[in-house]
Amino acid sequence: MKKIRLSLFLLFAGVSFSLRAQNNHQSKGFLATTPTKPVSFFEPGQIWRDNNSVPINAHGGGIMYYKNTYYWYGEHKIAGAIGNTGQVGVHVYSSSDLYNWIDEGIALAVNSTDPRSEIAKGCILERPKVIYNKKTKKFVMWFHLELLNKGYDEARSGIAISDKPNGPFVFVRSVRPNMEQWPLNVQDFHKKTVSKDIKKHYCGGYGCLGGDVDSLNILGRDFKQGQMARDMNLFVDDDGKAYHIYASEENSTLHIAQLSDDYLSYSGKYIRLFQNRYMEAPTMFKTSNGKYYMLASDCTGWEPNAARSAVADHIFGPWKELGNPCVGKDSEYTFRSQGTFILPVQGKKDTYIYMGDRWNPQNPIDGRYIWLPLNILDGHLTLKWKDSWNLTDLKF
Ligand code: GAL
Repeated sequence: MKKIRLSLFLLFAGVSFSLRAQNNHQSKGFLATTPTKPVSFFEPGQIWRDNNSVPINAHGGGIMYYKNTYYWYGEHKIAGAIGNTGQVGVHVYSSSDLYNWIDEGIALAVNSTDPRSEIAKGCILERPKVIYNKKTKKFVMWFHLELLNKGYDEARSGIAISDKPNGPFVFVRSVRPNMEQWPLNVQDFHKKTVSKDIKKHYCGGYGCLGGDVDSLNILGRDFKQGQMARDMNLFVDDDGKAYHIYASEENSTLHIAQLSDDYLSYSGKYIRLFQNRYMEAPTMFKTSNGKYYMLASDCTGWEPNAARSAVADHIFGPWKELGNPCVGKDSEYTFRSQGTFILPVQGKKDTYIYMGDRWNPQNPIDGRYIWLPLNILDGHLTLKWKDSWNLTDLKF
């Protein structure tokens, strides 16, 4: 009996040592100390440590709430410029209070060295989001995917699935959205023959198409192969229908596309909105009075810019722009961050947290998280800087 106890002890000690060693390795550049003391505040822009005292590594992230627990999924970044590519995968953390996070490990790994794998090590995997499908009882992850060594040209969406919130997730496939489907608000000229010259307008998607997107008809150009999708988010409505919101048409135009009932493909219903506005980093939520709000950024790569916001009575519009919700110093730069998710706080009616990333493209692992209370005043979103705050500061 003693022997069994001793070997069990050694086994656990070994597992815990190797997990720590792995964490130390993953957090290269940071000193991992003893387990963190519980905290009860947010400090935007400061290093935020997990239960092992390792800085949380979940960038471009999103949160799913399931059985009294919040799960935070995000891009696991490593040190140095190579960290801008997918070297590890999607990291997941869990929390019951939003301040203290337990490292649940890598939910979706990108460790294949086979260059034919769509999620080969070194691909670009950004802005992963997870939603739970009550009908199929599966956890479904979507993310922006760029295939290995193709820069940002492919503009695909990856889909992965799991039986458990903390994974492991299994990669299902990647898609270009809405292949051979016209949006609900398609216009006649989109269906006309597309000029062969359009290719010359490729510009990498930084707001430099050099012409009105409708006159270039990027939508028509991509009809057969499916639409482009880069920065993205997911939203589940009260009726269980889920939506994929993504920057399309060379980043010039957002699309809101309804997913199929299993959340693994599209229903075929989608709209395009904010043409020529080059909105990125879209995130959507719905208030108790049935209004849909959207927060997005301008299109300036890793550099911060002024956020945009919009409201609608119906998810498929019409959407009305409301302007930059930020107030005070650095409001033109969204407090040096770019949005990634709006988190509804559970058990508190109409209470939302803005989650943003302060990117650090030279050393991506040291990107910081900017979480701030998001208020709705007279139908407009308002975001103000706070050095430190907690959930009791959320007043509605
Ligand atoms: C940002 C985008 C990020 C990443 C970056 C690459 O605009 O929001 O997710 O794609 O560009 O430059």
